[in-house]
Amino acid sequence: MIDIHCHILPNIDDGSTSVENSINQLRIMEQRGISDAYLTAHYFRGHYQYERRQYDEKLANLRQEAQRAALQIQLKSGFEIFAQPDIIDDIKAKSLTLGDSPYVLIETELNGLAQDFYANVYPLLRAGYKPILAHAERYVSIMRKPSKARDLIDRNIYIQTNAGSLLGHYGEKVRQTAWVLLENGWTHFLASDDHVRADYGAIFEAYDMISQRIDTHTADLLTKSFPASIESEDKIPYTYVKVQRPHHHKKNWLRRIFG
Ligand SMILES: [Fe+2]
Repeated sequence: MIDIHCHILPNIDDGSTSVENSINQLRIMEQRGISDAYLTAHYFRGHYQYERRQYDEKLANLRQEAQRAALQIQLKSGFEIFAQPDIIDDIKAKSLTLGDSPYVLIETELNGLAQDFYANVYPLLRAGYKPILAHAERYVSIMRKPSKARDLIDRNIYIQTNAGSLLGHYGEKVRQTAWVLLENGWTHFLASDDHVRADYGAIFEAYDMISQRIDTHTADLLTKSFPASIESEDKIPYTYVKVQRPHHHKKNWLRRIFG
């Protein structure tokens, strides 16, 4: 599995607070089957703002420590960017993408989707970036109306869901919303959003639940195939599930025409 969203790079945001804690968490991840992790540090102007060089130094240091600990897990660069006006300037100047890919992990105000969300994201699309909305199920507007995720997808914005959301770690409403997204094919990535504060187990539990409640194929798409496509040339489809519902009306309509 590939985790595309975690705060395991130490001392850069509200995630891991020490190299030691990070290495311990990475060891657990590796033992349980994570092959690659994008260490997505918050990037939020005025709050978590730094030069790319500062990020790269911390990443190089952690990679060195991981090697010293004989870990095989691949540590990739990444950022969780708070969408703000002109954020494209920072994204361009500092290459705030997932690895060397065109994918950018984006977040915004949880108590809505900010009024200016599309205004902030459209320039990224026009410039060839591929935005992924982080933990879509945690936004109040999507909880109220989960089909809003479909509107985002129609605008070429990918969706990421937190493993903990499916387990109820953020409350019942978020849990329900996350499953609606899953069942409709309105999410493309399952990730941990791990902050090295608790056990790293949710993604494995969520994987098993998706395998049982939907199917293993979907669980693999969200944790393996689609994440692996971020740095390969493979296109990640915006739509990959056709939900089969009884089409009574359609049948009647067809019968009326064709007898
Ligand atoms: Fe996050």
